[in-house]
Amino acid sequence: MEYVTHGLIRRMTGNDLEQVLSWRNHPDVRRFMYTQHEITLAEHIRWFDRASVDTARHLLIFEIDGEAQGFINLHEIAPGGIADWGFYAAPNAHKGTGRQLGNKLLQYAFGELGFHKICGQALAFNERSIQFHLRLGFEQEGILRDQHFDGQQYHSVVCFGLLATDWQTTTER
Ligand SMILES: CC(C)(COP(=O)(O)OP(=O)(O)OC[C@H]1O[C@@H](n2cnc3c(N)ncnc32)[C@H](O)[C@@H]1OP(=O)(O)O)[C@@H](O)C(=O)NCCC(=O)NCCS
Repeated sequence: MEYVTHGLIRRMTGNDLEQVLSWRNHPDVRRFMYTQHEITLAEHIRWFDRASVDTARHLLIFEIDGEAQGFINLHEIAPGGIADWGFYAAPNAHKGTGRQLGNKLLQYAFGELGFHKICGQALAFNERSIQFHLRLGFEQEGILRDQHFDGQQYHSVVCFGLLATDWQTTTER
């Protein structure tokens, strides 16, 4: 796998709030999330105030040349460095941004934070995210059938996992 080192991961701050909200509310991002209503700034600020003081959560920005290109929510869900991730690239980002975001995030999570496993979940119709996880080296670990109801219909959820040891093997190649 190509190992891209461009860009960096940093903590999200209050200055990023409006930009992250505009990405989150964009139809090309929103339709792939579990909650699909348009989020108000007040709701977004309440979420940030809570989540940014939760030590199990890492709210992160991927940036290139000082410009924010995507958001990642890394959530430690179990002892021993096991985390879930959620993410989106800026909807107007160049093709290839997601890959860079993914590589940098894995380097940060496994390298700097010393995590053991990263887990991802994608709605079954989110083919881009499914391909994206596989391309980064994640294993598909299961499918939760009809696990999500969007108000009109049920969707299955595809679960992915990547171990630090898998990641080291692919990056050493
Ligand atoms: C998922 C996401 C981060 C990918 O970012 P991106 O910049 O589009 O991805 P890249 O251009 O870097 O492509 C990386 C890989 O993603 C997959 N991919 C990207 N666009 C794709 C498409 N239109 N169809 C299928 N796979 C696609 C491919 O595997 C691709 O690798 P390849 O180019 O070697 O084939 C981005 O599309 C996004 O933010 N989507 C909306 C939010 C979302 O779905 N988040 C994930 C929730 S689980």
